[in-house]
Amino acid sequence: MNTEQPLALLGGLTPSQFMQRHWQKKPLLVRQAIPGFTPCVGRSELVALAGQEGVESRLIVDSPKGWKMKHGPFAKRSLPPFAQKKWTFLVQGVDLHHDGVHALMQQFRFVPDARLDDVMISYATDGGGVGPHFDSYDVFLLQAHGQRRWRIGRNRDLTLQSGVPLKILQNFEAEEEFVLNPGDMLYLPPKYAHDGVAEGECMTWSIGFRAPQEGELARELLLGLADEAFDGVGEAIYRDPRQPAVMSSAAIPPSLALFAHQVVDKALKNPDLLDSLLGEYLTEPKAHVWFEGSENAPDLSKGVHLDRRSKMMYDERHVFINGESFRVGGRDARFLRQLADNRSLSASSCAKLSESAQEALRDWMSADWLKPAQDLPQ
Ligand code: SIN
Ligand code: CO
Repeated sequence: MNTEQPLALLGGLTPSQFMQRHWQKKPLLVRQAIPGFTPCVGRSELVALAGQEGVESRLIVDSPKGWKMKHGPFAKRSLPPFAQKKWTFLVQGVDLHHDGVHALMQQFRFVPDARLDDVMISYATDGGGVGPHFDSYDVFLLQAHGQRRWRIGRNRDLTLQSGVPLKILQNFEAEEEFVLNPGDMLYLPPKYAHDGVAEGECMTWSIGFRAPQEGELARELLLGLADEAFDGVGEAIYRDPRQPAVMSSAAIPPSLALFAHQVVDKALKNPDLLDSLLGEYLTEPKAHVWFEGSENAPDLSKGVHLDRRSKMMYDERHVFINGESFRVGGRDARFLRQLADNRSLSASSCAKLSESAQEALRDWMSADWLKPAQDLPQ
């Protein structure tokens, strides 16, 4: 992606300028980020998605008795009437289900794929919203249909109301206020308080991010290390030919403690293992994503493109796809990185891959991770 080209999407900033000035730092309001934006998902399509098993959705009603929240799937008849005010439903991961939404998300790939999460779409009737809150991750809020009034503020006090089924700030103080029209977009860094209220019927697309949390990442990597450590560490048994006779029989010998430290250090010092576990973790398919596999004979002759649900990344020594790692170098690495960056690879590049890399591509195609180029979404 060209990081030095000014983009309407970022209000005329280049991706580099945006990342330096705003990312994780301060909000940015962009009028007509996508001029003439006409969303490819309408109300009825969103309702249909929210009714599907395996699609994460929530219904939030701001009722006279307070906030109410339910998790989907929702049959259409279980939603409140569209004429009723102050309710909203939100569907997570729409990019996994819709090529047009997936295509829009690609415009945000000036942020690494490892940080990009999903597109959530909300529908709200007049006055609907999720209340004043903050999110832990960055977000771009793109107005897709109708109008929404956003009030935002830095709120030092992030105390949440107790006894409500959602995260609502107890003392929200707005510093700025804007009404967004279709095509307008608001970027907010993590923890920036915001409250978006629909003015009439409204749909908002949230391009959301993820960031590994220390404890979760440590757990994932250490579990992976525990599974794989035998290969890297070996089978040596602790020996103590210099162990003196002891009076304090219950005391653990310091040399045994040292052996334990050395064993763990040895496992952790295998850089290849940690790197491959990280890539496998970052490319793990989302919950509820399962690939059925393809019946067709794999065909690389027209080139290939990644299925929209596939996650592919790389580091210096590996490529990763959907939770699996492959050690690659040389020309294969160059082309497979191209596939990961562009999400497609031409027929002539496929033909230049080694036989074993072509075999891997055929396996990925049989698993439905990869599609033949003629099936490219329009
Ligand atoms: C919404 O679309 O209603 C909620 C988005 C957000 O505030 O993060
Ligand atoms: Co939010």
